[in-house]
Amino acid sequence: MKTKIGIIGSGNVGSALLKGLTTAGHDAITSNEENVAEIARNSDVVILAIPFSAIDDVLKKLGSTINGKILIDATNALTPDYQLAVGFTTSGAEELQKKVPLAKVVKAFNTVFAQNMATGKLNGKILSAFAAGDDEESKKLVLEIEKSIGFDAIDAGPLANARQLEALGYFNIQLGYFLKNGTETGFIYSH
Ligand SMILES: NC(=O)c1ccc[n+]([C@@H]2O[C@H](COP(=O)([O-])OP(=O)(O)OC[C@H]3O[C@@H](n4cnc5c(N)ncnc54)[C@H](OP(=O)(O)O)[C@@H]3O)[C@@H](O)[C@H]2O)c1
Repeated sequence: MKTKIGIIGSGNVGSALLKGLTTAGHDAITSNEENVAEIARNSDVVILAIPFSAIDDVLKKLGSTINGKILIDATNALTPDYQLAVGFTTSGAEELQKKVPLAKVVKAFNTVFAQNMATGKLNGKILSAFAAGDDEESKKLVLEIEKSIGFDAIDAGPLANARQLEALGYFNIQLGYFLKNGTETGFIYSH
């Protein structure tokens, strides 16, 4: 399955996903400052690999180009001083879906460090990648994309479960950075 994937952002996450998706045989590209809308217009799946604080600006740039498309939210919903920005009664992904009701938002990749995102593997072990979304077909495709990179892809249920995935992403950052375990670390959900 080859998918046209436009990645908004070419930083740590954007470049790692570009590598992983291209290696998996997808037609993937990352954006620069000028071509955000053009990238989305020419893609079937769009990935947000931008800071949480940049979402509103990026949505303005994207306009209607994402209508009807799968919009993967890989952001960690954090404040600039690394606190959970949204809390537990909603999630960044649900708030995003409200802002773009015609797109099909799927929360994915936010629980994985960029360093491990291109292969889905760490020291020979297969990492888990989750996908939460309300449109079953879209979520299924995102799970296939994760699998194609090399992850063990786990269906995380409806978009409301992004609350848990965002908390897990935050916990990953706590473990990796604040508790100094580093980024050669990741979650494996045994099932
Ligand atoms: N790093 C990780 O391990 C990791 C893991 C999981 C999830 N995440 C989440 O993934 C997202 C990206 O993280 P990152 O580490 O890749 O960040 P990053 O290295 O700082 O990259 C951010 C990218 O977003 C672009 N960008 C910022 N504001 C923009 C705007 N207004 N319009 C268009 N593009 C804009 C930047 O472009 P310029 O460089 O031109 O500003 C850059 O290409 C964040 O939400 C983060 O929490 C990160």
